Amino acid sequence: MKFSVQAGNPLEFDTPALIIGCGTDPAGTPLFDAISAALGGVPGRMYESKEFTGKPGSVKVIHTLGALPAQRIVLVGVGDPGEVTPEKIRRGAGAAAQALVAARVCSAASVLHQIAPVAGLLEASLEGVSLGSYRYDCYKTKDRQEVLLQEVTVLCAGVDEAERIAPVAAAVETVCSAVRMSRDLVSAPGNLATPAYLAEKAGQIAERGGMACTVLAVQELARLGMGALLAVGQGSQHPPVLAVLEYRGINDGSNPVVLVGKGITFDTGGISLKPGANMELMKHDMAGAAAVLGTLQAAAALRLRINLVGLVPLAENMPDGEAYKPGDVVTTLSGQTVEINNTDAEGRLILCDALQYAHRFQPAAIIDLATLTGACVVALGHNATGAMGNDGELLASLLRAGEATGERLWELPLWEEYGELMKSDIADLKNAGGPSAGTISAGWFLKQFVGTNKWVHLDIAGTAWEDKGRHYLPKGATGVGVRLLVKYLQGIAG
Ligand code: BES
Ligand code: MN
Ligand code: ZN
Repeated sequence: MKFSVQAGNPLEFDTPALIIGCGTDPAGTPLFDAISAALGGVPGRMYESKEFTGKPGSVKVIHTLGALPAQRIVLVGVGDPGEVTPEKIRRGAGAAAQALVAARVCSAASVLHQIAPVAGLLEASLEGVSLGSYRYDCYKTKDRQEVLLQEVTVLCAGVDEAERIAPVAAAVETVCSAVRMSRDLVSAPGNLATPAYLAEKAGQIAERGGMACTVLAVQELARLGMGALLAVGQGSQHPPVLAVLEYRGINDGSNPVVLVGKGITFDTGGISLKPGANMELMKHDMAGAAAVLGTLQAAAALRLRINLVGLVPLAENMPDGEAYKPGDVVTTLSGQTVEINNTDAEGRLILCDALQYAHRFQPAAIIDLATLTGACVVALGHNATGAMGNDGELLASLLRAGEATGERLWELPLWEEYGELMKSDIADLKNAGGPSAGTISAGWFLKQFVGTNKWVHLDIAGTAWEDKGRHYLPKGATGVGVRLLVKYLQGIAG
């Protein structure tokens, strides 16, 4: 998706589609009145008949049949203009983009951000159109939709405004292309997206962004003592690896933020095999890894003045004669031993070795992202990422970034008492607690590997995949985490 910014009058602008924001009672606003008049009163009539009410996120496409240079007017409902928020605009723009994709329109112009004098509406409107028009269709050889919305021109009042806005639009383009890249990785099928494939992608992202990238293979993992990551990967024909990316955006000796992403390229559950229904969705069990790669790509492209490390443990969780099994005891990189009581609780195992490995970077903060527990979907559904950590300030900053980006977080407690659930009779820990507090017990397990570092764990099991398709989240991978982390990092980069 390409953005351009231009001074221009929407009533005179030649475009396949002009996107405008509309409140619940738009009569009297000059642009709406002018458009309604040019179209013989049709938009006004739609309000009268309640075909369109301007409620947030609603969309109506009207052909102009030559009455205006724009071939179509896209009305986007924003609700009460006094209560407009960036998220309402993001969702409305996403819905508009989906309508334009369905109408096979490949370019559009927008004045949606002009609907109210609220900060962040331009970014939100462009994020909405870029993310809402995304499709993963590279495997369609028939009936593939060739035309997708590809270009959006932001219209503004004058050249001064255009000059001010252009860099903002360029930054949104950069971040959204990282989100789209992340979605591509998550949607890639498990037979393609193996640990080696994702490690190669990591290398390409690093090279394009001028980052260092090291991929630790099995021999190196064994030498280091990453018994947990190795155990999870040992049943697969595709050996586990740890990809390490380092972005240096500032040379002031400041400590890096370390991002850790769960990269299970397919989760069958292993010997504790998952039921067959919907198992295909477990290709997205590397969404944490994809979020880390997307964030690094965006951070480098934006040249954020910050140091960053990305740690991406990659493995495939398979049942096999060589696979790890319930009752096994593994020794983690930290030296702590873990009794395996469920091979389907594999995410925390690959993460615990990566979290321990993070210590060597003397991190300013560690943030991990993982599609870790089905329990998180039970607790929060698909509208919030579960957040846990050991540092109030770090958590608060991430919660704020979540509000700002619409990638909302909800904190769960990590009290010591939850550790009771993870006690083993024969080892230091077991890897799976019982059915209660499943998200928290997983978080508590991870906490045993962060030491005194500031750390937040984000459980994205409910937010990484969209089942139905809504506003700016088409059905499939959401790319969650990229915009959240970029917003957080922009905040600390100053
Ligand atoms: N990858 C799954 C969690 C998951 C479930 C992600 C649904 C996205 C959607 C994870 O590896 C897993 O299997 N967790 C188990 C843990 C249990 C065995 C303690 C779970 O949630 O059932
Ligand atoms: Mn699992
Ligand atoms: Zn998993």
